[in-house]
Amino acid sequence: MKRGLLIVGAALLIALTAAAAFVLTHEPARRSVTDLKIEATPERLERGAYLVQNVSGCLHCHTAHDEAKRSHPKTGPLAGGGTCLTEEIGFPGYVCVPNISQDPETGIGAWTDDEILRAIREGVSRDGRALFPMMPYSVYKDMSDEDAYSVVAYLRTLEPVRREKPHVTKINFPVDFFIEMEPAPIEAPIPTPDRGDQLEWGRYMATIAGCRECHMEGKGGMEFETPSGVVRSSNITTHATGVLPPTAEGFVRLFRSYVDGSVADGHSETDFTVMHWEDLAGMSEDDLRAIHAYLLSVEPADNQVQTYGDGGA
Ligand code: HEC
Ligand code: HEC
Repeated sequence: MKRGLLIVGAALLIALTAAAAFVLTHEPARRSVTDLKIEATPERLERGAYLVQNVSGCLHCHTAHDEAKRSHPKTGPLAGGGTCLTEEIGFPGYVCVPNISQDPETGIGAWTDDEILRAIREGVSRDGRALFPMMPYSVYKDMSDEDAYSVVAYLRTLEPVRREKPHVTKINFPVDFFIEMEPAPIEAPIPTPDRGDQLEWGRYMATIAGCRECHMEGKGGMEFETPSGVVRSSNITTHATGVLPPTAEGFVRLFRSYVDGSVADGHSETDFTVMHWEDLAGMSEDDLRAIHAYLLSVEPADNQVQTYGDGGA
């Protein structure tokens, strides 16, 4: 009996040591970068500008903005870096949204095309570390090769902004360990879906714009802790508990109401939304209609969400 226990104890000790060694030496899954050179064709620059400015929220995060306003309109130099999460506000470490302008020292001007591409879709920084997943590479991993090339080509045209980020990224244990498990290398080509297929296209655009992730495939209820309180993503399915505008016209109108950073119907100026409305307001009519058509096809979810205040989903 005693011997049995000892063996179990020894096995446990070995397992614990192995686990500790794994924790200490683990590195994110990553591929080596190649010397890929992305050609900046006019088509790519146009598509990249649209994706970066109006679809995927890159500039929304990577630019300083007015945090007193509902949609956080941009105020800082474009791509010069955004907000910081710090220990002072209860975050386990420090992460600042970095400068992704073309400045070679404080931005990404000296990064190679493939280093930028890998950061965006695979979550690995230039030095090989895992990026904190506030950078939504879990969303961008589904961006097609052509679209991702377009994004990189466009980023190259951004004015250099000289601005150091206030804190170097540092995530405390054990959160840092879990983050190392987030990156995943992309090993197969990702084609761009057929624009002619409205549902398929709408689904793709709703993916790379983050709608599907933040709205939990439509049913909503994802919680965001913000300095002004808890915000939950709306149910955007056709169920009676959802708030999806029933017509494509109404859906387009809702997005356009944010064009100048003004407030959409029924919301106060300070009801902070984590959604990048200001950017999405400039999405093309065809794309908004395709996303709406896709949302109409999503299974209706019975989920009453209280977006602001206590109460939960
Ligand atoms: C929700 C906010 C958010 C959005 C949206 C976002 N990013 Fe980021 N991004 C971050 C944060 C935060 C980091 C830094 C993470 C870290 O240091 O671990 C980052 C890091 C990066 C990096 C690495 C730069 C460096 O110095 O480490 C690149 C390149 C980048 N983002 C490009 C993009 C592009 C392109 C898009 C749009 C397709 C985008 N980001 C969208 C928050 C965001
Ligand atoms: C970063 C997370 C995030 C992303 C990305 C996001 N949303 Fe939202 N969305 C929210 C949150 C949180 C709310 C609730 C607060 C508000 O009304 O803005 C919301 C609200 C909504 C509403 C309800 C607005 C109303 O009238 O009350 C609709 C419709 C919507 N989102 C659609 C979309 C679509 C379509 C996309 C993609 C193009 C998208 N969202 C992307 C987080 C997100």
